[in-house]
Amino acid sequence: MLQSEAPVRAGMNDRLLRACRTEATDCTPVWFMRQAGRYQPEYRALRQRHSLLALCQTPELAAQVTLLPVERLGVDAAILFADITLPLAGLGAPFNLVEGVGPVIERPVRSAADLQTLRRFEPERDVPYVLETIRLVRRAAPVPLIGFAGAPFTLASYLIEGRGSKELLQTKRLLFGAPDVWHDLMTRLTDMTLAYLAAQVQAGCQAVQVFDSWVGALAPADYEASVAPHMHRLFDGLRPLGVPVIHFGTGSTGLLRLMAQAGGDVIGVDWRVRLADAWTQIGRRAIQGNLDPAVLLAPFAAVEHAARRILAEAGGRPGHIFNLGHGVLPETPPDHLRRLVDVVHEHRMTTSQ
Ligand code: CP3
Repeated sequence: MLQSEAPVRAGMNDRLLRACRTEATDCTPVWFMRQAGRYQPEYRALRQRHSLLALCQTPELAAQVTLLPVERLGVDAAILFADITLPLAGLGAPFNLVEGVGPVIERPVRSAADLQTLRRFEPERDVPYVLETIRLVRRAAPVPLIGFAGAPFTLASYLIEGRGSKELLQTKRLLFGAPDVWHDLMTRLTDMTLAYLAAQVQAGCQAVQVFDSWVGALAPADYEASVAPHMHRLFDGLRPLGVPVIHFGTGSTGLLRLMAQAGGDVIGVDWRVRLADAWTQIGRRAIQGNLDPAVLLAPFAAVEHAARRILAEAGGRPGHIFNLGHGVLPETPPDHLRRLVDVVHEHRMTTSQ
């Protein structure tokens, strides 16, 4: 049995886990993607002394960074401090995390021959520091710990492009032009993600999120043919872990039905869709989102207004997890996030259903 031994400690705030299962909660749970990051003065101070990779690879520091937003903001979940690229080195694709750019892959993978240089990912050998961070956080966290991984498509886009890209042209060239190579790569990345998330749950994560951040670049028919089969296998393989799975994408308004069909107990949506419309599309399951992170740059009255609109769209139905539609921006005033948590927690529906 891979499920972590003590999924919820006595007295632990389990709102998030209840909402994932569409059970009623006393108030809407809230956490933020990138709740640990450069908007925090404490994080910026740590980053002056350590590289991002060093922070991720030093369990004591990574655990400290994971817990900081829980203490400061009062959110209902901790998210492991790591990066989606960390397992790629173990797969045989070394990378750097470059300041202001993000992941840069040393040798992009674009051909059948390139694929032959990859090897099998083994979590205990390749990312022991991530598993140790999870154990440390679990000892101290008063809220559930979310583990995460990049989805195969989003990871493939980094491996193929070599770095972040708007158009994903090299990725699409391979997907459309060399389907055998594409499916071979996606199969390997799905295997890696399954092994990685299973190890995270075994180490103590109580929920996991799959980030398909760049999948919105695809037409629905191409998602169906080139990505969905791998996502079905991924979610089928995650089910036996026994923890809720959050399936997140951005720019994915046209893909929501297909993403929900592929799997996930919770579907994460960005701000380009009304929460209520997205919920209609995904049917009877939990939803996460979907405040535009840029709203937090405005005076707090605008933040509160936008948050209340989203809460009204959720209408008090069980199974809404409040989050941003994407990560916290570095320019965000920390106090806005703290006050936003209070607004969400104090919100009560005037009409019940
Ligand atoms: O608090 C948390 O959310 C946990 C930490 C976390 C990081 N990366 C740390 C990080 C998480 C969940 C990620 C996931 C991740 N990494 C994704 C999926 C989520 C998303 O944003 O769509 C992606 C696409 C990446 C790849 C990546 N890493 C990018 C695009 C960047 C940004 C480049 C930049 O400078 O803005 C990174 C760097 C990165 N990973 C930072 C953090 C906190 C930036 C801060 C720093 O340099 O210290």
